[in-house]
Amino acid sequence: MEFNDLLALVADGEFHSGEELGAALGVSRTAIWKQLQKFANDGLVLESVRGRGYRLPGGYCALREQAIRQALDAEASALLSSLDVLQRVDSTSSLLAERGRLGASSGAVCVAEQQTAGRGRLGRTWVSPFGRNLMFSILWEFDGGAAALEGLSLAVGVGVAETLQALGLAGVQLKWPNDVLVDGRKIAGVLLEMQGDAAGRCQVVIGIGVNVAMPDNAPIDQAWTDLKRAGQEQLDRNYLLAALLNRLLPLLHAFSQTGFGALRERWQALDALYGRPVVLHRGAWQVAGVCWGVADNGALKFEGEAGVEWISGGEVSIRAGATHDS
Ligand code: BTN
Repeated sequence: MEFNDLLALVADGEFHSGEELGAALGVSRTAIWKQLQKFANDGLVLESVRGRGYRLPGGYCALREQAIRQALDAEASALLSSLDVLQRVDSTSSLLAERGRLGASSGAVCVAEQQTAGRGRLGRTWVSPFGRNLMFSILWEFDGGAAALEGLSLAVGVGVAETLQALGLAGVQLKWPNDVLVDGRKIAGVLLEMQGDAAGRCQVVIGIGVNVAMPDNAPIDQAWTDLKRAGQEQLDRNYLLAALLNRLLPLLHAFSQTGFGALRERWQALDALYGRPVVLHRGAWQVAGVCWGVADNGALKFEGEAGVEWISGGEVSIRAGATHDS
């Protein structure tokens, strides 16, 4: 029995008895049950209800290269240099970094149904079950080294947030530097990794994870939401990826010319932290203060007891129990 054969049978999201699945695949009910335990290790977790059988909650609509390409507009199609649609990979960002070292150019994109070693910011892992969310990376090359990349991670956050708004989501905001929130809960994250010459031509791998339809018991240690919970139940992931690329590929192209300054106002219009009491986390240290927007280089204006500081790395969290006016 192959992973994909079973997946095709349960893709409708309806209940199927062990007997029915066994008959369709030519194996016993017990064999189905044993195989499901193994598939669970691959991230395909089926719900089992006594008397009704098994189902894949929410069903499954596969990522397909043709469907993604068809939904791209002319500008994004011209900027896309390659598209890899994979079932499983350690990390889409690791794969693209490797492709970049081997000569891939700006506009290479990789998306996967599942990552076995997905990475988040600040050394965290990025966890997602098979086929339920969107995880992809984009490779882009820049001249001018690290200095030319100032604010790039915020720019990408603007692109993701504005795409979600255009798809009809309300309450979309950005938490510095680039967490995308809906009603204060994280719905998407962005991770930038650079390779090459820090003073000259370099490549950036932009990794983006969007929560689409998380299981209820997702092991995530911060407030999160997903597109389904935000009212976008029917959104096809192929269409979602194309919508993101339609905005992000031209944005990256323009960023090489204009930098973050041209996007600063748009970032600030989405700022979840402006004027809010926050805690700045610096390794083991924590400093209380208030945030007042960002500079043209993407640095956060933070006002603590010691006065105003411009913050360019680390993490800021909203102070527990604090309100807009406190
Ligand atoms: C964050 O911590 O908020 C950033 C999360 C970035 C996750 C994405 S999923 C696709 C790409 N591949 C990875 O390993 N990480 C990024």
